Amino acid sequence: MEDNKLVYLLNKMTLDEKIAQLLQLATPFFKGAKDQGEITGPMQSLNISEEIVENSGSVLGASGASEIKSIQKAHLETNRLGIPLLFMSDVVHGYETIFPVPLAIGCSWDLELAEESSKIAAIEAAVSGIHVTFAPMVDLVRDPRWGRVMESTGEDPYLNSEFARAFVRGFQGKDLRSETERVAACVKHFAAYGAAEGGRDYNTVDLSERELRENYLPAYKAALDEGCEMVMTAFNTVFGVPATGNKKLMRQMLRDEMQFNGVLISDWGAVKEMIPHGVAENEKEAALKAITAGVDIEMMTATYVHHLKELVQEGKMNESLIDEAVLRILILKEKLGLFENPYRGADEEREKEVIMSESHRAVARELATKSAVLLKNDNVLPLQSDQKIALIGPFGESGDILGPWSWKGSKQAAVTLKQGMLSQIKEEQLLLSKGSDVETITDEQLTEAKKIGEASDVIVLALGEHSDMSGEAGCRADIRLPKAQLKLLSHMKELQKPIVVVLFNGRPLDLHGVVDEADAVLEAWFPGTEGGSAIADLLFGEVNPSGRLSMSFPYSVGQIPVYYNHFNTGRPKGAVDAQERYVSQYLDIPNAPRFPFGYGMSYTHFAYSEPKLSCHTLTADSPITITVTVRNTGDRAGEEVVQLYVRDWSGEVVRPLKELKGFSKIALEAGESKEVTFTLSEDQLRYYDTDLSYASDAGSFTAFVGSNSRDVVGVTFTLE
Ligand code: GLC
Repeated sequence: MEDNKLVYLLNKMTLDEKIAQLLQLATPFFKGAKDQGEITGPMQSLNISEEIVENSGSVLGASGASEIKSIQKAHLETNRLGIPLLFMSDVVHGYETIFPVPLAIGCSWDLELAEESSKIAAIEAAVSGIHVTFAPMVDLVRDPRWGRVMESTGEDPYLNSEFARAFVRGFQGKDLRSETERVAACVKHFAAYGAAEGGRDYNTVDLSERELRENYLPAYKAALDEGCEMVMTAFNTVFGVPATGNKKLMRQMLRDEMQFNGVLISDWGAVKEMIPHGVAENEKEAALKAITAGVDIEMMTATYVHHLKELVQEGKMNESLIDEAVLRILILKEKLGLFENPYRGADEEREKEVIMSESHRAVARELATKSAVLLKNDNVLPLQSDQKIALIGPFGESGDILGPWSWKGSKQAAVTLKQGMLSQIKEEQLLLSKGSDVETITDEQLTEAKKIGEASDVIVLALGEHSDMSGEAGCRADIRLPKAQLKLLSHMKELQKPIVVVLFNGRPLDLHGVVDEADAVLEAWFPGTEGGSAIADLLFGEVNPSGRLSMSFPYSVGQIPVYYNHFNTGRPKGAVDAQERYVSQYLDIPNAPRFPFGYGMSYTHFAYSEPKLSCHTLTADSPITITVTVRNTGDRAGEEVVQLYVRDWSGEVVRPLKELKGFSKIALEAGESKEVTFTLSEDQLRYYDTDLSYASDAGSFTAFVGSNSRDVVGVTFTLE
């Protein structure tokens, strides 16, 4: 239906119908709904009529071709103008085939596989009737106390931007109308939700506009530049105003500067939450602030349907604000082809064919092997197939390895580490004991674990966090492993056996009591449906670990926030002329994180040549290249993530010690060498000045190349 037909349809709608189109309700409100669907926020009575439900515009959290078809059918029978519903759900890292959590995918540094994972998620969601996914979440994160770091790809604006693009490509494909097994993407949470003070969810965010633009906005912009159809507001304040009612953020920065003219949806209840935030005295004021800021859809509160008509009649707002919101929603429905086919991709036969298919699970397994990060290995990995192995710990036989955003995933169908290991060794070689629960341990558990450990050649300890210890509202002030598990590990240590710790968790942890006690540590994150197979592939060396951290591991919670692209300060520790005491340091821990951004080990080793510049002078018209030769000096094949960082030695504002400007994940056979060349152009050296101008400065720079943000070799050049 062309736009003028949409305008014609809009003009046929009554004011009540237009306002109801702006409401999104969870599944239980709808006729034809068989189950309650995905509930991801506080359910409350909305005090709305059946007529409002019949005229509402979209559904949150429904799934299943049959369920969605019956809801849509019942809706079309009652909606006067036959305007179809939009179905939106959180398909963040997989639908039923669950991939590793996005923080893990960020550690894969594999954009192609990331795109493939979201394409598969889109296929499974679309055949199940879903039209829009609330993903990718691209909030930059620097505080692992925050439960939702697992949902982000990490602490770097450039890496997050590259993943944002890849996810949008995978979800949306090239044409949503013809490709009915893709879904529209909704980038979230605009903006800077990851900067919540204290790492406490929904807490205050207070950043300078310069910092917001420099680090927090780029990934949202990247998603929109890739054609992302929707944006979701963040719960938090920005510049002292909740994002959901923030005109500067939404009208100026999002719609004008980023030229976003798609659908903006509030997060669950975020419109009404402007009252407890303290910027709206009542629902009516909250509604006015949100519609004025340009929020098109109100998710799961009813301020719009309760008050917008009155506000128009009182002359406090222009009806055109409602018209523009409704038109954006109708245009999205049109792009999805819903006016021609309100059931779009929903197809029970296709559901049976594609969901959890072998090929989908194979990609999930591959991505999980590439997302895990080998943090320590004192020659105990890979395991040998003739060893007697004790698998001990609460995650040895656990299916709780899907992560907190896996509402359609089945823990029962997930491949546990035990199952994965049994596909590599004989049953009699694998000795099993739970050793502890996630947060408790009994004497009996400990006694049995010691017996099993004593009888083994090597102990694999599967430790970690419940999936509900991270995710939304899953914040922790103490980010060590639970005490029960630390106790188990210390007792295993007394057996004087080699110990391999495998971590299943949703955040960088404080690894006191783990790293020094274990001989090897493999960070598996929440690896998804094929997690057990993938981790076993890595433990036995079927696959060589290639993950590199996309978020720093702090030495302790007291060090937070700790991130690689920090400033130098005027008294940097370790400077040649640094004093003993009067420098920026802690008295009790190092400044450096336990494991830095970009870090990860392999079963082989890589040697780097000195980086070579094509020229030592860069100008706006002539970029330079940096070339390095990487050689696999070990005895087995492996993948290396070659990373390029840049430092601007002097700007109009202080500049980070390093900024990621490029990376290349390369595969090398034993003894093989490859040349890697990066191109650097002037626009990659620009930054926001105090007046918010965005430009580069002539002067000295250093390009660093290496295997992580710490172990690099630099070469200097000048920007003229
Ligand atoms: C939740 C989350 C958001 C999600 C939405 C709908 O509150 O903040 O990420 O997409 O509700 O489920």
